[in-house]
Order: sequence, then C-alpha cells, then structure tokens
Amino acid sequence: MALVFISKRLGFCAAHRLYNPKFDDATNERIFGPCANANSHGHNYEVEVTVAGVPNPDTGMVMNLVDLKALLVTHVFEVLDHRHLDLDTDFLGGRISTAENLAIAVWEKIEPHVHEATLYSVEIFETPTNRVTYRGPAEQLDAP
Ligand code: NI
Repeated sequence: MALVFISKRLGFCAAHRLYNPKFDDATNERIFGPCANANSHGHNYEVEVTVAGVPNPDTGMVMNLVDLKALLVTHVFEVLDHRHLDLDTDFLGGRISTAENLAIAVWEKIEPHVHEATLYSVEIFETPTNRVTYRGPAEQLDAP
C-alpha cells in the first residue's frame, strides 16, 4: 500500500506573551527574555498540518486539500487571526503560549475532524527559522 503524506499550510497573525505567574518577573524575564515583555508582542505564524493515508482509488486523493484547508480556516485561522493568544481566546486552555503548546492545541482542535486520513503532524512556524513539530501523544510514537 502506498502511504502518502499531504500538507496544508496557512498563515495567521497573533499576539502573545510568554509568562508563568508561578515565577516572579525577574525569573520570567530570565527564562523567556523579550517574549516576557509586559505589553506583549506579535508573530506572523504559519501552521502546517500533515495527514497520512492511502490514496482513494477512485479519486487519487488521500484527503481533499480543500477540506483540509477548510479545517484550518474554521478551527485555527478564524479563532486566532489578529487575536491575543492569551487574552482573546481560550484556544490554549490556560497553557503558556509557546509554539509547542500551540501545536498541541491545534492538534486537539483538528484531529477530531480528520476522518478520511490520519493526522500525522502539526507544525508551527513562529518565525521563518523557528519550527515546532507535534506528532500526537507520546504513547503513539513508534518504537525505535
Ligand atoms: Ni513570541
């Protein structure tokens, strides 16, 4: 069987602040640097979702990329674009708004809606050179 991976990428703009209220301000600044700035800052984020599957013999598609894009628009873009990740939405469920936690949250929002294929990864580009990849709960990792 031919296992094929297909991906869709979408950009959105959002503000956030990396700050753990368990730490004092000096500790937050030491750990998070300028990302702990009190008045927040923004990123031009990109999110890339990859699903895996065997192409349907009738359509030749693993999953229609139009449908994958629609999931990203509905569950990510329309919720996060031009929002403050910490203040305007509960998308992260109270987690610190690192790219790591953002990738986990996107997975949680998208995964229940992927039926034709298997969600393989969620990647967040916080900057053009910083990428975080989430491939699902650790217990799903293949044995080495
Ligand atoms: Ni940041």
